[in-house]
Amino acid sequence: MSITDEGEYGKKQIDTLEMIWGEGYLSPGGVSEIDLILNDKSLKNKKILDIGCGCGSAAFHFIKNHSPNYVLGVDVEEMVIKRANALKSNLIEKKKVDFKVIQPGELPFDDLSFDVIFSKDTFLHILDKERLVEDLYRVLKPGGFLCVGDWMRIDDNAPSKLMQEYIKLEGLSMNMCSLQRYGNALYNAGFKNIKLTDRNKWYLNLAKKELNDLSTIYKEKLIKILGIEDAEGTINIWKKMIEVLEKGEHRPGHFYAEKRT
Ligand SMILES: C[S@@+](CC[C@H](N)C(=O)[O-])C[C@H]1O[C@@H](n2cnc3c(N)ncnc32)[C@H](O)[C@@H]1O
Repeated sequence: MSITDEGEYGKKQIDTLEMIWGEGYLSPGGVSEIDLILNDKSLKNKKILDIGCGCGSAAFHFIKNHSPNYVLGVDVEEMVIKRANALKSNLIEKKKVDFKVIQPGELPFDDLSFDVIFSKDTFLHILDKERLVEDLYRVLKPGGFLCVGDWMRIDDNAPSKLMQEYIKLEGLSMNMCSLQRYGNALYNAGFKNIKLTDRNKWYLNLAKKELNDLSTIYKEKLIKILGIEDAEGTINIWKKMIEVLEKGEHRPGHFYAEKRT
């Protein structure tokens, strides 16, 4: 079973994930996780590209709390961009953000277009990491930087049977690679000051709390969104996810790198 409906991130998926992770969030950790990924870098007056912006959580946080010049959020799913644009109506500085649907593949932007690239829990959906990282280097301005959170795996061997079972339950295209593979791709593309951070323990503990909430305080709402069968299926996804987190194969984390001047 999977809670994907229209596309991989349709209405049911969005409603479920926002219930667990908060309005506009399709990934865990809220503003504190976004700020951690930023690696203490200032976004003041920067032009930012958020790849896989989902429903706009990071873009809204940047505009309210980090004074960027402009944020462009892009995503391949129509439904999430629709939701991001709906949430944008609550924002005071509306001119500072746009959300657009793009096609998967090469980024549709000129070379040297952005000061900062941000992305959270999206690159796992993209297969060719090396090509992606080269493209990030291309669209960043000299001296620009990237801050990326992602769901990764312990290594780049074939996923274990348990991991395959988990991915099948999720029903999403999950092409997770190791943190080190990103490290190598960043280095080979020409990035400097590369920092790689593993967050397996943090998410393992949070996921256990999420499972408890799904089975108790969120259960009624979950059934309302998904129906009883898919609600049980979602709880099973969380149980399986905790198994792969506990085994150490599923490794959320983040990385930072700078383009040379
Ligand atoms: C787990 S969600 C995270 C969304 C958002 N970053 C957040 O933290 O709430 C992953 C997002 O990546 C998007 N996505 C998948 N493949 C993509 C691609 N090739 N380019 C851009 N976005 C993509 C999905 O549509 C989805 O909105």
